[in-house]
Amino acid sequence: MMIRRERAPDRPEILALIEAAFPEGVEAHLLRELFAAREYIPELSLVAESPDGAVLGHVISTRAWIGDNPALGLGPLGVLPARQGRGVGSALVKASIGAANGLGEPAIVLLGSTEYYPRFGFVPADSVGIASPDPSWGSHFMALPLAAFHPGIRGRFRYAEPFNRL
Ligand SMILES: CC(C)(COP(=O)(O)OP(=O)(O)OC[C@H]1O[C@@H](n2cnc3c(N)ncnc32)[C@H](O)[C@@H]1OP(=O)(O)O)[C@@H](O)C(=O)NCCC(=O)NCCS
Repeated sequence: MMIRRERAPDRPEILALIEAAFPEGVEAHLLRELFAAREYIPELSLVAESPDGAVLGHVISTRAWIGDNPALGLGPLGVLPARQGRGVGSALVKASIGAANGLGEPAIVLLGSTEYYPRFGFVPADSVGIASPDPSWGSHFMALPLAAFHPGIRGRFRYAEPFNRL
């Protein structure tokens, strides 16, 4: 398996896999909007590719804000149902963290499973001064401070615009 940047011809396959990973969800619709949004960051839309060229998983991080400071919002993350539980999702999250650090981003923020994301170092966002846009998200709202993070980066989190239209 290889992690690489998404290319435009991958998009139908990526959207099909996100639909398969979230059969009831809005994630494929959200992702389509994120691809077209001004907050899209090409370096942070990553696929996991099998040796035979199939797309097994995809993750995207888009421009977001903590107060007035630029940061990243991660998601959706999805893996083909038949390939789940074999490390594809973990490889995509770790590659996202490496790429975001390399770009000098201060933090990755997400709404997700408290069973899954703490293994990568994510902590409750409020514990590092990042306020949730929706208090009902509770401990599912998590953040990973990166090398460029500093305590002056605090305030309310705001996702890329397409998240507000969900
Ligand atoms: C969640 C998801 C991205 C994880 O990717 P993956 O390749 O299956 O996961 P990995 O092989 O890297 O990691 C496996 C671990 O994740 C856990 N896990 C898998 N799906 C999970 C979920 N929806 N919530 C919490 N934990 C989950 C497994 O229990 C396993 O835990 P263990 O290592 O303690 O046994 C993938 O299963 C998926 O696309 N699920 C459907 C979509 C979804 O629910 N996305 C929400 C992300 S919060």
